[in-house]
Amino acid sequence: MPDTLITLSIDARSVAVEAGLTVAAAIALAGGGVTRRSVGGAARAPLCGMGVCQECRVTIDGRAHQLSCQTLCADGMHVVTASEGAP
Ligand code: FES
Repeated sequence: MPDTLITLSIDARSVAVEAGLTVAAAIALAGGGVTRRSVGGAARAPLCGMGVCQECRVTIDGRAHQLSCQTLCADGMHVVTASEGAP
């Protein structure tokens, strides 16, 4: 059992993860995968995991285009992906 659990929402779903996890990892653990949509509407997901590809962009606490692979989860954080519908 981890010492510290953090609770955040991903697409309005409450998710508890270990402290120190990136938002991209939390999205994957929550069963998601799609982070954004291309201009043509194709589903995109984290690829490089090191801040280069930009495929992991999500909206975090109302700020669009945040790199989920470079952002650590924080308690009470609200993450919105493009898993459903438009980017
Ligand atoms: S996964 Fe490539 S920038 Fe985040």
